[in-house]
Amino acid sequence: MNSLKLISTRAFATSSARAVINNVTVIGGGLMGSGIAQVAAQNGNHVTLLEVNPELLQKAQTNIATNLTRVAKKLYKDDPNAAQQFVEDAKKRIQGTTKAEESVGDADLVVEAIVENMEIKHKLFKTLDEAAPQKTLFASNTSSLSIGEIASVVKRKDKFGGLHFFNPVPVMKLLEVVRIPEQSEETYQAFMAWGKSIGKSCVTCKDTPGFIVNRLLVPYIAEAIRMLERGDASAKDIDTAMKLGAGYPMGPIELADYVGHDTTNSILQGWQKKFPGNPLFVPCESTKKLVQEKKLGVKSGEGYYKYNK
Ligand SMILES: NC(=O)c1ccc[n+]([C@@H]2O[C@H](COP(=O)([O-])OP(=O)(O)OC[C@H]3O[C@@H](n4cnc5c(N)ncnc54)[C@H](O)[C@@H]3O)[C@@H](O)[C@H]2O)c1
Repeated sequence: MNSLKLISTRAFATSSARAVINNVTVIGGGLMGSGIAQVAAQNGNHVTLLEVNPELLQKAQTNIATNLTRVAKKLYKDDPNAAQQFVEDAKKRIQGTTKAEESVGDADLVVEAIVENMEIKHKLFKTLDEAAPQKTLFASNTSSLSIGEIASVVKRKDKFGGLHFFNPVPVMKLLEVVRIPEQSEETYQAFMAWGKSIGKSCVTCKDTPGFIVNRLLVPYIAEAIRMLERGDASAKDIDTAMKLGAGYPMGPIELADYVGHDTTNSILQGWQKKFPGNPLFVPCESTKKLVQEKKLGVKSGEGYYKYNK
């Protein structure tokens, strides 16, 4: 009886989330946007993907198709027909466009995942606010900018929030749902329900720098680099210490190389500008030098460690 009740409650929760958010527009088909579009389509949403030109749109769609095939192979190991069907169905649910105004015509939700630049995000959201229907909820996937500041240019602040995914989106379970004071309870509940419906575990937080994960992770990485700069320990020993002593799967210097020094450096620079008195937000000298030398970490073949490309 209880389990029947549970199943019917879950079914209701899922179907009511779908009733609110079914058509999703993803802005930007880069690393994060293509992952968000893929996961939404995989879970039954109709997705419109917006890119700046047909070449980048095509590139995003090819990446999504490749990733869907990988997921399908895992999900349907012994059934190639079902795997193919899964890929075809998800691909059919994604349509591409290069026209911002048209992309939001029937959107229940817009998730923005474009370059990390306030001016460019403002320009985009102003256009979308004019073009989208009243019902459309807006979210930004920004890692380091203030959601409230991004939302300042739209009229629908009650329908705005942060939906912060993690890379790679199809693999990482976490979704940070970021609230701003003007956001309505209905919008918040719709974000949470949608996050669950696409298979994510949602956590809620206020609109503070770095939200939960990056607010803890970025200063931790910077402190480890400062330890290295002072010569307190070698990179290898700092990494070994945190893996074996704290049980972390990766050491902080390895993690810094994996995230990319351009990303960490620009996050810290942005935070330092906004909160100049906070010693945890000071960018690291050796990281700045690596960025100048284009030694960005794993992605460029060298950072604090060297990698085979
Ligand atoms: N990379 C990460 O690990 C990560 C994790 C979480 C959140 N984020 C955030 O996600 C956002 C995107 O990051 P990314 O790593 O996917 O960047 P990316 O450079 O891989 O992709 C951005 C894409 O947006 C497109 N774009 C730019 N302006 C556009 C516009 N006006 N309209 C449509 N498309 C446009 C670009 O052509 C590009 O393909 C950023 O705000 C970033 O802070 C990144």
